[in-house]
Amino acid sequence: MVKVAPRALGIEYAIRDVVVKAKDLERRGKKIIYLNIGDPCKFDFQPPRHMIDALYKAAIEGYNGYTDSLGIPDLREAIAEKERKVNGVKIEPDDVIVTSGISEAIFMLMGAVVEPGDEVLVPGPTYPPYISLVKYFGGIPVTYHCDEDNEWQPDVSDIEKKITERTVMIVIINPNNPTGAVYDQKILREILDLAAEHDIIVVSDEIYDRIIFDGKHVSAASVAKDVPIIGLNGFSKVYLVPGWRLGYIYFYDPEGRLERLKEAITKEARVRICANSIVQMAAVQALRGPQDHIAEMVRKLRERRDFVWRRLNEIDGLSCVKPKGAFYAFPKIEVKGIWRSDKDFVFELLEEAGVLVVFGSGFDPIYGKDHFRIVFLPPIEILKEALSKIEAFIEKKISKL
Ligand SMILES: Cc1ncc(COP(=O)(O)O)c(C=O)c1O
Repeated sequence: MVKVAPRALGIEYAIRDVVVKAKDLERRGKKIIYLNIGDPCKFDFQPPRHMIDALYKAAIEGYNGYTDSLGIPDLREAIAEKERKVNGVKIEPDDVIVTSGISEAIFMLMGAVVEPGDEVLVPGPTYPPYISLVKYFGGIPVTYHCDEDNEWQPDVSDIEKKITERTVMIVIINPNNPTGAVYDQKILREILDLAAEHDIIVVSDEIYDRIIFDGKHVSAASVAKDVPIIGLNGFSKVYLVPGWRLGYIYFYDPEGRLERLKEAITKEARVRICANSIVQMAAVQALRGPQDHIAEMVRKLRERRDFVWRRLNEIDGLSCVKPKGAFYAFPKIEVKGIWRSDKDFVFELLEEAGVLVVFGSGFDPIYGKDHFRIVFLPPIEILKEALSKIEAFIEKKISKL
């Protein structure tokens, strides 16, 4: 056996890890409904035609070479413009670095900040890479309580309690994956005040910024005043192109305190050369062209959210907070004494009912446990079938208690 760094073998990603078992069952003839992954293109969503045309045109017109490592100037400008107009974030093109998805941005960011023993405060539950990539760089992810009884809003007093002299970063995910919470402006401000008081970097992942069903999305940087914010966003969800792999990182930095970090991430950006050239060209058109698909997507998703939320709460043994944004629900498994863990629940549900969801502890062993995440991207017909199967599965188990 060759030598392998334990940091790589230790990486976990529950959302995809559960698929191995599902594929195995499928090979043996079982029909599986996949409700594990946040990919709208797997269902009845496709990017607007003008984006596809722009991608093709860019290739035909010869934009097939490397681009500037920080991204093509037009795209950096279009991103700054979008953030100013849509989210009220005062940034300029120079504050933006284009990446191959937020995933790459998280990698670069953690690589630039986290040293062994450093602590990073992440929401509990969280999008899993914020845990695994902090660990990858030798850091310690510390999840802070998001309060299910308060629509999964972050519990600021818990954040405060968990700040130590090793804390280097607070991560916000708004709207949140996996809970669908859209953060209150007051709570956001309180988190920013805490960060300022302790001189800690704030990172705000806003990839679902325009997928909102109730209330309003407030961008952290729009209310940050003099607190510096590192914003993360991308095209995977709102522009329906997760496979194109395009995202960005921006530095809202009114007092120039992020300059060294920006320099470090710029160096990381150079060593991986650049993001995909023709996708960057198409992304300019995505931001500057018609935006009608967004309202249409939100309309469809709202209907599906309403349906899934209602059905989940009708099922004996489950309860679910209403998601206000993104496309996930995060129900709680209320029945005790049947499954040893949420992971057992998910694997039994898969084997017996053929419905694949993700176990909550994959989003945080503390605040995610006894839950599961279900995506409500599919058309109602598929969701109806999946929810009936989940209901029958739980009913059967309860009846045997
Ligand atoms: C909160 C959050 N951030 C980032 C990502 C990944 O984004 P990208 O496709 O831009 O790498 C996801 C994907 O599900 C997500 O939910």
